[in-house]
Amino acid sequence: MKLLTTLAIGCGLMTALAAQAAPDADSAQAVLKKSDCFKCHAVDKKKDGPPFKETAKKYKGKADAEDKLTKHLTTSPMVEIDGKKEEHRALKTKDAAEIKNVVQWILSL
Ligand code: HEC
Repeated sequence: MKLLTTLAIGCGLMTALAAQAAPDADSAQAVLKKSDCFKCHAVDKKKDGPPFKETAKKYKGKADAEDKLTKHLTTSPMVEIDGKKEEHRALKTKDAAEIKNVVQWILSL
């Protein structure tokens, strides 16, 4: 019985750790879809905006990657699209955990 309990706790802990290490792709994509991000972005194809994989590569190993992307996706900075300056779209969520998950998912690609 004691062994079983230990196993159960061990498994629960591993699940929790895995959840922390790997962002939730479904949730991230749902937020991106809702925010119309896929209009200009794809995971590995160039559209009006860079593919998310390219962004992940650009920020790989940079300590401020999460901060930079969070800012980009919540403060609508000006970007150039077809030679015209436009406000970049912000994520349609105010939930800090959801935003963090999206940023971590993009960086994990
Ligand atoms: C109207 C087209 C358009 C839409 C919609 C759009 N983006 Fe972008 N995005 C761009 C362009 C263009 C750039 C390149 C900006 C630059 O490099 O100056 C960009 C850049 C980015 C980058 C790279 C930022 C960096 O620092 O390298 C990320 C990540 C990103 N967008 C995510 C998103 C997300 C998430 C959404 C939805 C909330 C979104 N984009 C919606 C056009 C768009």
